[in-house]
Amino acid sequence: KKTSGWTSKLTRWYQKNHRRLPWRRTCDPYKIWVSEVMLQQTTVGTVIPYYERWLHRFPSLRHVARASLEDVLASWQGLGYYSRARNLHQAAGVIVREYDGRLPADRESLKKLPGFGPYTTGAVLSIAFGQRQPVVDANVRRVICRLLMLRGKTSALDQRIYSFLQEVMPARQPGIFNQALMELGALVCKPEGPACPACPIKSDCRACAEGIPEEFPPKTRK
Ligand code: ADE
Repeated sequence: KKTSGWTSKLTRWYQKNHRRLPWRRTCDPYKIWVSEVMLQQTTVGTVIPYYERWLHRFPSLRHVARASLEDVLASWQGLGYYSRARNLHQAAGVIVREYDGRLPADRESLKKLPGFGPYTTGAVLSIAFGQRQPVVDANVRRVICRLLMLRGKTSALDQRIYSFLQEVMPARQPGIFNQALMELGALVCKPEGPACPACPIKSDCRACAEGIPEEFPPKTRK
């Protein structure tokens, strides 16, 4: 069966159905960076008020760099995983000193900054800078594992998912494509009780065809 076309179906679904979250109204790389760091270990509902307060307190990256670590940590109070805030503060300092206060738009420079792992780097490059860079988080992993009925250990699995996404990612609006995968995972392709009848790519999904979406991703140890 031909599977080309599912990426456009997914993107069209996203345009119509996505949650109008505050960080989706901006193309400021700094604001997208802050949102992705907050969203890594915290749910959307918790992040929203923190994100709004943070940007009120630190409207630009230079405000973060100028603030004391104490002030930065105080604004993070309640979000947990405080190394994220320390890394934000430290990275903001480097970006002001070495990149004139603007986030660099290439993988090599970003990956040298504190807190920039593969996820944050891919998210910023695709969403803020429009580059064709896949991101694999838990939602994306689940969607692709079901689509292709992928089994195996998490580490090898993520590599296969990453390679697959590198091939199929559209050149147009890659950031929208990445967020559409995340949104499908959050709203439709849920861990338990996925809403397959409502899925825009159900006719392309192998696990749906077999009636076993909940068997993916496989529950194995790393
Ligand atoms: N989780 C990680 N990134 C996200 C985003 N951009 N929107 C919603 N949830 C997310």
